[in-house]
Amino acid sequence: MGDLTGRRIVLGVTGGIAAYKAVEVCRHLVDAGAHVAPILTKGALRFVGSATFDALASERVQTSLWNEEHPIPHTRLGQGADAIVVCPATARLLADYRSGRSGDLLTATLLATRAPVIVCPAMHTEMWEQPAVQENVQVLAARGVEIVGPDEGRLAGGDVGAGRLAEPMVIVEAVERALSGGGRDLEGRTVLVTAGGTREPICPVRYIGNRSSGKQGHALAAEAAARGAKVLCVSTAPGHAPDASTIEVIAVETAAEMAAAVGHLAPGADYVFMAAAVADFRPVEVSDEKIKKADGLPEIRLEPTADILAELGRTRTSGQVIVGFAAETTDLRQNAAAKLAAKGADLIVANDVTAPDTGFDHDTNAVVLLDADGGEAEVPLAGKRQVARAVLDAAVDIRRRRMAGGGVGS
Ligand code: CTP
Repeated sequence: MGDLTGRRIVLGVTGGIAAYKAVEVCRHLVDAGAHVAPILTKGALRFVGSATFDALASERVQTSLWNEEHPIPHTRLGQGADAIVVCPATARLLADYRSGRSGDLLTATLLATRAPVIVCPAMHTEMWEQPAVQENVQVLAARGVEIVGPDEGRLAGGDVGAGRLAEPMVIVEAVERALSGGGRDLEGRTVLVTAGGTREPICPVRYIGNRSSGKQGHALAAEAAARGAKVLCVSTAPGHAPDASTIEVIAVETAAEMAAAVGHLAPGADYVFMAAAVADFRPVEVSDEKIKKADGLPEIRLEPTADILAELGRTRTSGQVIVGFAAETTDLRQNAAAKLAAKGADLIVANDVTAPDTGFDHDTNAVVLLDADGGEAEVPLAGKRQVARAVLDAAVDIRRRRMAGGGVGS
């Protein structure tokens, strides 16, 4: 749900001063794995050059119905699109689209598609508030076009008011949502995710760590946000955490820091996913200075860290769903089932890290889901985002079953 990988997005850019922000939208979409085909109107070309989009997008910029390589570019683009996003959309674009005019490549493409369309208006406040413009927007929205923004804020020329283009990330999220078929089953929910491996310092230079990259936890955070959740992502790899307006990243390094952050945030969360690989032991003493080779072999005494998941199991709030992970090298199901019971989790996501292409640092994973009612489901090798989807589906299902009598949704 909401995954942009391989999805074909037509990015329409019309002639407003906010056209430069479409460059950022283009970059975010491409970074998320989408195939972006840009269409710039003549007006857009007065504000931004096509060279920028040529360099960033997946196809060269198209501007005209008449002088492209393909004889009927609007049907190729319209029929092939998984979604079309117009950013920014001028008052003229809104009027043309509303009345079904197809005077240029962008409007013709909008008419030649059955894909979801997202329109992001941006203009001066006086123009935006014109009844004609408002009526066009309402008619388009009633026809199922997703209207994103505009925001209030500073406009060109120093004016302040309604008409500013929505933030690029908000636009990208709207595209994700449109592609997910609008599945917003986590709307209104708070999801806490931990991601990455903790580092337990020995001295200012060395630490005890593990091979977790944080990719599976970050995929869970991105998927939960795409499904409408407010996401709190406690990560040891914050630079790799997904970027979204509804994801708050809390950077931590050690097991103790992670325990403190989770202890603080968990009471407000409806779902907790302990995807992080938390160190089980840490050095008792941390040297203030680098331990030198000349001083001989250091003796590192270790002490146990707190088990964050087990603590969550003991202190869960009503209705909260707690999900643990088990990275195993032997006896996958037995070990995972033992952790499920011992830690009081509702669900354990178990993976065999010795299997090909799974686990640490891979982009793919294969897991077995074990729930506290004895349910078991296999998720075969898939991208970590798809695995995240299956894990979230299972967690949402547990909460639904638990709340069935109490009238609470997902
Ligand atoms: N976990 C935790 N706090 C710890 C250790 C682990 O919250 N100090 C969580 C992990 O985030 C994961 C689950 O417990 O969700 C299982 O972690 P794992 O390392 O597989 O289990 P351990 O309890 O450490 O058991 P073992 O090392 O014996 O496999």
